[in-house]
Amino acid sequence: MTTPDRDLDGGLDRDLDRGLDRGLDRGLFITVEGIDGCGKTTQARRLCAWLEDTLGSGRALRTFEPGGWGGGALLRRLLLDGTVLTSRTELLLFLADRSGHLDAEVLPALNRGQWVVCERYTDSTLAYQSWGRGIALEEIEGLSNWCRFPAPDVTVLLDVDEKTARSRLGARGKLDRMESGFETDFMARVALGYRELARRYPGRIVVVDGAADEDRVAAQVTERVTERVRQRRRLEGERT
Ligand SMILES: Nc1ncnc2c1ncn2[C@@H]1O[C@H](COP(=O)(O)OP(=O)(O)O)[C@@H](O)[C@H]1O
Ligand SMILES: [Mg+2]
Repeated sequence: MTTPDRDLDGGLDRDLDRGLDRGLDRGLFITVEGIDGCGKTTQARRLCAWLEDTLGSGRALRTFEPGGWGGGALLRRLLLDGTVLTSRTELLLFLADRSGHLDAEVLPALNRGQWVVCERYTDSTLAYQSWGRGIALEEIEGLSNWCRFPAPDVTVLLDVDEKTARSRLGARGKLDRMESGFETDFMARVALGYRELARRYPGRIVVVDGAADEDRVAAQVTERVTERVRQRRRLEGERT
């Protein structure tokens, strides 16, 4: 068994803005973030379809956390529907899931040259477990560094207020364990956390108004991702 390379760009470190540093020979690692019901699944699907149309069939992989890998179904069930005793246990389970997902899905795809569109990643952990649950940001970043999680190249944050997101989920019926955070001020804190992360990492996170209609959001997402790719090409051009 080969060990997938976790040193794509040196882990999270202090500066999550380093995501644009990787070579052009591989596809980009794009993450889609935001609170429950903001439209991640909808937009990740559309972005992936657009990438495949633009770059060719088989060039993009759509995946998700938690649970988007062979061993992940059990962890997803536990995290979304099970009983998780403490915030620290929850954090460790999410990190374990990410670690397995990177090894099994994300890194092999990037190493094959594919683009990866991943629904939820490190910003989810920072927003939900730090702003939401109150675990110190530095502790989560320290553990993420230890895990050598690579920074995404581009993160699309779908910004939607909690009321809009909650009303979209209404149609789904029962809320899962994380979604029940709408019933307290948990989800509002998470939304705040996401906005703060976007302020901290403007070079990596693009904020898109997720409250607009689906087509408009999709157009914004492709426009902003394209902008980032062009920006990266310019940077690479200057360096060579
Ligand atoms: N821009 C939009 N406007 C209105 N409803 C939307 C929009 N995007 C998604 N939805 C709907 O909102 C619900 C949640 O969307 P989803 O993509 O599953 O969000 P998430 O994956 O972030 O939880 C779905 O029923 C979806 O059809
Ligand atoms: Mg979803």
